Amino acid sequence: MSLSVKMGFLGILCITFFSVSSCAAQSGDAEAGKKWYAMNNCGSCHGPNGNDGRAVNIAGLDMGFGSFVRKLRKTNAPIMPGFPESAISKQDAADIYAYLKSLK
Ligand code: HEC
Repeated sequence: MSLSVKMGFLGILCITFFSVSSCAAQSGDAEAGKKWYAMNNCGSCHGPNGNDGRAVNIAGLDMGFGSFVRKLRKTNAPIMPGFPESAISKQDAADIYAYLKSLK
């Protein structure tokens, strides 16, 4: 099997896992998440620390990773933009999630 075929197979495996949900408990990197949080301007609404903005407090985030990603992709807030996969990848989302979880 060529390398690219193997990689493709692994990719499909992982996507399958993701939709089943538990690969989703993948580890995020809070340090990186802090960067993505700043880069995507989450802080402009939620505050630099997640709890000091004009939008809801998301420090410590009381929701599972799956719900978090759904909120991110398609928010029910008229003013919060949706962040598609092309803007925030699943891994970046996991990082942001880890970052928010690390906040109080
Ligand atoms: C333009 C302002 C704005 C930006 C930018 C923004 N948000 Fe939000 N966000 C909101 C508002 C307002 C809500 C409350 C929506 C609601 O639940 O009714 C919200 C809700 C949320 C929620 C759900 C909170 C809950 O308890 O239900 C999460 C999680 C979240 N935002 C994360 C993020 C992240 C991560 C980013 C950056 C990638 C971001 N937001 C960028 C305004 C914003």
